[in-house]
Amino acid sequence: MTFQTECGIAVEALQAFAEQARERQRSVIHQVPMAVLYRELGVERLIAEGGLHDGVLRKFLTDYLIASTRLHHPGYMAHQVAVPHPLGAIAALIDAFTNNAMAIYEMGPSAATVEFAVVNWMLGKIGWRPSPLPDSGAEPGSYGGGVLTHGGSLANLTALMAARGRVAPNAWQDGTPGNLVVVAPEGCHYSIARAVGILGLGQRAIRNAPTDAEGRLAPEKLAAFIGGLREQGANVLAVVANACGTAVGLYDPLRDVASVCRDLGVWLHIDGAHGASALVSNRHRALLDGVDLADSLVWDAHKMLRTPTLCAAVLVRDHRDLDNAFREEASYLFHEKDQPGFDFIHRTVECTKAALGLKVFFALAAEGEKGIADFIDRQTELASAAAAYLRAEPGFEVAVEPQSNIVCFRVDGSDDLQLQLRKRIVEAGNHYISTAEFQGRRWLRLALMNPATELSDIAALVEEIRRHHAAPAQDGGPRHVSPWF
Ligand SMILES: Cc1ncc(COP(=O)(O)O)c(C=O)c1O
Repeated sequence: MTFQTECGIAVEALQAFAEQARERQRSVIHQVPMAVLYRELGVERLIAEGGLHDGVLRKFLTDYLIASTRLHHPGYMAHQVAVPHPLGAIAALIDAFTNNAMAIYEMGPSAATVEFAVVNWMLGKIGWRPSPLPDSGAEPGSYGGGVLTHGGSLANLTALMAARGRVAPNAWQDGTPGNLVVVAPEGCHYSIARAVGILGLGQRAIRNAPTDAEGRLAPEKLAAFIGGLREQGANVLAVVANACGTAVGLYDPLRDVASVCRDLGVWLHIDGAHGASALVSNRHRALLDGVDLADSLVWDAHKMLRTPTLCAAVLVRDHRDLDNAFREEASYLFHEKDQPGFDFIHRTVECTKAALGLKVFFALAAEGEKGIADFIDRQTELASAAAAYLRAEPGFEVAVEPQSNIVCFRVDGSDDLQLQLRKRIVEAGNHYISTAEFQGRRWLRLALMNPATELSDIAALVEEIRRHHAAPAQDGGPRHVSPWF
């Protein structure tokens, strides 16, 4: 079997997988018990004996895809994971095949160059000065910097490491001072708490920032809050703002928050893992007004830039902050290495690093900025239309007016009812949705990631919810089961 033939087998299977999903011929989600899958996939035997070629490969792929969640299905509305652009997926294959672990330039000059370009494109969208090409003689500190990491959680950790380098320059050598605190809205993503834990600060170092009734940072109360912390002897490592938050997708008022942080000399980190992609859209970039006044930003391409997992950017206004995150001496000396390119290795937790930039680059280069902007506009506007539709339905309540492609709603009744409804919807397999807690209550949650999802899919979901609500014990409509049941 040649690589080409085996690729042919895989591509044929994937094409059918996507087409069946788009045509709703299979469930969007189908939870086969692991014990069944373990047996049906024959994993133990294959590991022991090998032979995953030709007909065996074809059979394995058929079985594997049966129990794979179908992001291409228009009913996929659950998590903030992109329905990947086909070109992005092809880039992932190229990356896997070439395997250029490109954290050092010599291991992947093309991959490093593409990452450099993607990071610069993002810096430009924020309004920060892109990095000059190596050997340009540009003044250190007069331009931004960034790196792509394996996910937004790692990216948030990396950004807070950069902040720590600024606030506590000796921490790398001496350890993290015990009085550092991170000020963040209660609704920030849990990766912030993890990063605080990994930094050795302890969860007590997370101080819930003052917020408005919808959980957005309240800049008018922030200065007094930070003042109070300082009076108690705390040193603020960073203020974290959401752009947008995970649960309901609201954007914090970045300009006003940034202005307080600047006045007080506090590092502002923006978690834009989900929502920074709005910067590409002329219609929606105002949601991030003031982003350029921050010190760092995290931006996941694998959420709204149609890029396969994983590809997250850590971006800083001053590249030296990132260059110093993992070593305190001026690591922009790396530019003086005798090589014709740029090493990213000093900016990341990772040592071996995939060519993450290629995946987002292929999606961008296939669609162009306008194509991506149109996608973001479409999904955001679909969320507004969905919220209006749901609000008009008797017995339905919408949490907030959406600012992104996330919509939270609930049906009159208890938190338990929302969880029960979600369970039945997932079991029926026509729609895949999630839930979230917001303002102390449980909501059904849609993340509208799929360009094939229409308002009619929301209407069908509402109908299905009504059916489950009225007759909870009955089946929820058409269901496509696997051959194993
Ligand atoms: C606001 C926010 N930050 C960070 C993350 C974590 O990103 P990742 O899943 O890429 O680690 C998420 C994930 O949903 C998120 O919504």
